Parts: sequence; structure tokens; C-alpha cells
Amino acid sequence: MDKKEFDLLYNEALKGYKLAYAPYSKFKVGASCLLKNGKVFHGCNIENSSYGLSNCAERTCLFNVYSNGYHKDDIVAFMILGQTKDPISPCGACRQVMCELLNGDVTVYLTNLNKDFKEYKVSDLLPYSFSGDNLDE
Ligand code: THU
Repeated sequence: MDKKEFDLLYNEALKGYKLAYAPYSKFKVGASCLLKNGKVFHGCNIENSSYGLSNCAERTCLFNVYSNGYHKDDIVAFMILGQTKDPISPCGACRQVMCELLNGDVTVYLTNLNKDFKEYKVSDLLPYSFSGDNLDE
């Protein structure tokens, strides 16, 4: 674990966490993304009364990064922060999106409000994943 990287990401993920719009589940999630140029972006979960339209924090964060003109090669590390007892486990949909929008060797920190953490590479979070390459086969 790189302490400086962790702290930068944690502060930003906490900003996202506090902005979560989760009136239905009451389950807040924040995410953050550190770029090579030092910029850090955040995202939060945003729910909808039509539950299926809700968006997870990970996807909000990554869409925010891409919407600002950055891409996978600009990204160093990613963090997900949940109000869980153990470090949060990202949902399957977000693992698929992380595989698409982050390089496989990017560090992903999973954490909680106590700063317990687990550290993975993107490629470890979704083994044998489907990708755009498969569409050409
Ligand atoms: N949620 C996330 O934002 N990220 C995850 O990895 C797991 C779940 C959100 C979706 C929903 O708003 C709430 O948490 C409960 O599922």
C-alpha cells in the first residue's frame, strides 16, 4: 500500500461518500480515482425511485473521469469506500465497467469508514472477463 496514494484517494472517496444520494437503501458509497497528473476525481451512488435506474459510486466516478477527457492510460489507482464492516465488495456490474475503463494493472483499494482495506489489481477482481476483444472473434 502506498500511504500517500491511499490518503489522497481516501479523502476524495469520503467527499463522494458524503454526497451519496441513497434515500432508498440508505447505503452510502463513495469512489475516487487518482490520475498520473495528480488530479483526483470522486463519485457517489445516485439512486432513483425506479430502483433499476440507480447508479453505483464506481460508475459515477469513472464516468466523471471520462467526461472530463481522461482515459484509462491517465489513471493510476482507484478506491471504493462503503459503510460496511469489512472493506466494501464492488458489485458485478461495476467490476465489468472497471475492466473496460481501467487498465488491468491499476490498483483498486476497497475500504470502509474505519480505513480497513483490501488491495487488488483490476484484473484480479473479474477473472476471465468479457471484453471488446471478444466482439471481434
Ligand atoms: N452500491 C454502490 O454504489 N457500489 C457498490 O459496489 C455496491 C452497491 C450502491 C448501489 C445502491 O445505491 C446501494 O449501494 C445499495 O445497493
